[in-house]
Amino acid sequence: MYLTKEEEKMYQGEYGDTVRKSMEIIVALGDIYGAEKLVDISSAQISGVSYKTIGDAGLEYLEDLANDKEIIAKRVVTKIPSTLNPAGTDLDNWEKLSFPAEFALKQNDIVDAYGALGISKTCTCTPYLVGNIPKFKDHVAWSESSAVCYANSVIGARTNREGGPSALAAAICGKTSLYGYHLENNRKTTVIVELNDEISGIGYGALGYLIGKEIGDGIPYFILKNKSTNDELKSLGAALASSGAVALYHIENETPEYDSAGKEKLLNEDSSSKINLNINDIEDTCKNLTNSSKDEADLVCLGCPHASLEEIKDIANLVNNKRIKNELWVCTSINIKAAADRMGYTKVIESAGGHIVCDTCMVVAPIEDMGYEIIGVDSAKAANYIPSMCGLEVIYDNAKNLIKFE
Ligand code: F3S
Repeated sequence: MYLTKEEEKMYQGEYGDTVRKSMEIIVALGDIYGAEKLVDISSAQISGVSYKTIGDAGLEYLEDLANDKEIIAKRVVTKIPSTLNPAGTDLDNWEKLSFPAEFALKQNDIVDAYGALGISKTCTCTPYLVGNIPKFKDHVAWSESSAVCYANSVIGARTNREGGPSALAAAICGKTSLYGYHLENNRKTTVIVELNDEISGIGYGALGYLIGKEIGDGIPYFILKNKSTNDELKSLGAALASSGAVALYHIENETPEYDSAGKEKLLNEDSSSKINLNINDIEDTCKNLTNSSKDEADLVCLGCPHASLEEIKDIANLVNNKRIKNELWVCTSINIKAAADRMGYTKVIESAGGHIVCDTCMVVAPIEDMGYEIIGVDSAKAANYIPSMCGLEVIYDNAKNLIKFE
């Protein structure tokens, strides 16, 4: 692989061991995937944050890095905006929300170690809602699969599905290897998906789940009957990336590469396969995403991917002046919660008995140790992961059906 003189110095250890090791990860990946050179990135988004997923070994590794005086002193770390994926707790309010203390303290140590490396302690899977937002065609290194899908598809930035270590290495070096979705030729559609009826709400998650399962790491080109909101697109991408390994989709007349390239340029010559769906396929998938025989959840968890201000507003309208019977978490980032506080949405939700939970989510939090058994979600990604990652039952439905009132 070709390296510039500066990259060669980084690779040879002139900027210290941490930079050298990070460059080794980036170059090794590039060699595996046939990259000819590196490319500068404009932002990083790093997974591997929850204590539930990285444990003590991950914490020790990060603390070792954070104690590397050489990289801190030389300020070589994170010259670009870098944010974290959700952690396992609400970092500030873990006690009030009854997160286990031992877990919460270790979690804060993990986030502090990332902070010492210069990475923003903003823990969210929707970095694009809180200022970590690339421009069209920017190269970035993001690792949260739903955010990768959003960055590639809705924003038109270029990122592979990075792992936690490779995204951290990219954040440290400000570079990644030029392969995969960074190359125009690899961004063409592999299958056309035409939906013959209009969809909304949880229908987008069901569509993503169905197609992700069918096409694995393919690139779908959707022809939809109706326009989508940004929130619906984040649900679609999250589901595509969880049942399959989709990192990029196009929607006719909607996503930016369709506009700039036109239909023909996005179609591979051999992408003749086509999937036709109607509303019955979507409704059947919605039903199949529920694995509980009960019709009431003891914890309703909304905000997967992390809720936008508009989604929080809708929930506030739904529960206004009512008393919620089941527990309600609305997961989001601290930034969006601050906006919700100012708008009065937090007060409305809390007055009804619900909580806005920051920094974490229903999948990476230790909800299986918190006494819950049936989780209600309006996210196909969460419905897909909760049974396997938390061992709990799940109900997939719209918020207005999941939330029960006294
Ligand atoms: Fe985000 Fe957690 Fe869902 S990381 S995409 S809220 S599973």
